[in-house]
Amino acid sequence: MNLNPIGIFDSGIGGLTVLKEIHRQIPGENLIYFGDTARVPYGIKSAETVRRFSLEIADYLVRHDIKMLVVACNTASAAALNSLRESLPIPVVGVLMPGAYAASRATHTGRIGVIGTESTVASGAYDRLIRNIRPGAEIFALPCPLFVPLVEEGRLTGEITALVAKEYLAPLKDKEIDTLVLGCTHYPLLKPVIGGVMGSSVALIDSADETAREVMRVLTKNALLNPGDRGRPAGERESRSGSTGFIKYYVTDAPERFKAIGERFLGYEIPQVEKAEL
Ligand code: DGL
Repeated sequence: MNLNPIGIFDSGIGGLTVLKEIHRQIPGENLIYFGDTARVPYGIKSAETVRRFSLEIADYLVRHDIKMLVVACNTASAAALNSLRESLPIPVVGVLMPGAYAASRATHTGRIGVIGTESTVASGAYDRLIRNIRPGAEIFALPCPLFVPLVEEGRLTGEITALVAKEYLAPLKDKEIDTLVLGCTHYPLLKPVIGGVMGSSVALIDSADETAREVMRVLTKNALLNPGDRGRPAGERESRSGSTGFIKYYVTDAPERFKAIGERFLGYEIPQVEKAEL
């Protein structure tokens, strides 16, 4: 039992999809969200740079007494998860493994598409993880870099987004995949458009839900659950009854912009966003 907060970080705003799911599934936990808005996007930077940024943020969050770190960014999970695990004295959960498990469970044919940032796709991390879980799986990975700015601009539907999706996803259409991993924090917000292009026979995998379950498993295993959540049956936890933990938000630049776009992501008010000095 531990009252300390869980630290969650992303290159910017996208990791709020993961925070939202953690808060929904384990509402009694205190959460600190860190968005590196001054240095976003990570998806076009080298793995070495993303690793350095991730270690700096982890250091900042550890100084805020977090009991666990969630790397809510696919690019940072691919580049820095091992380094973070080696250097931190607390459990570290990334988004790739939960996404890989969910995809391996969902597929019937073993033909799986993966879309993500340039850096995530170049790392080959999803390919390796999925093949470990499901040997013989055929993976078709594609970067979709314009999806991130489209989401940031709030263009979740409409003609421009539909055109970009159609062009990006065209190479996957004839690969006969039955599962597509949305391997970037922003992409779940484009589910209706991506689903419209791929068709209903393709299962879309959003790792936020599975990541929140993994967080719950790791907290339980390490006896780190906040007593607000401990002992409450899963159904009750998910109905958000009982005490609700605090959520604090820190960014490295433009807190007002983060607040405005973040509220759109979350669907509820963000009372305050603080500027962090790394
Ligand atoms: N959060 C990043 C990811 O999940 C996307 C945004 C970026 O490129 O920084 O890969």
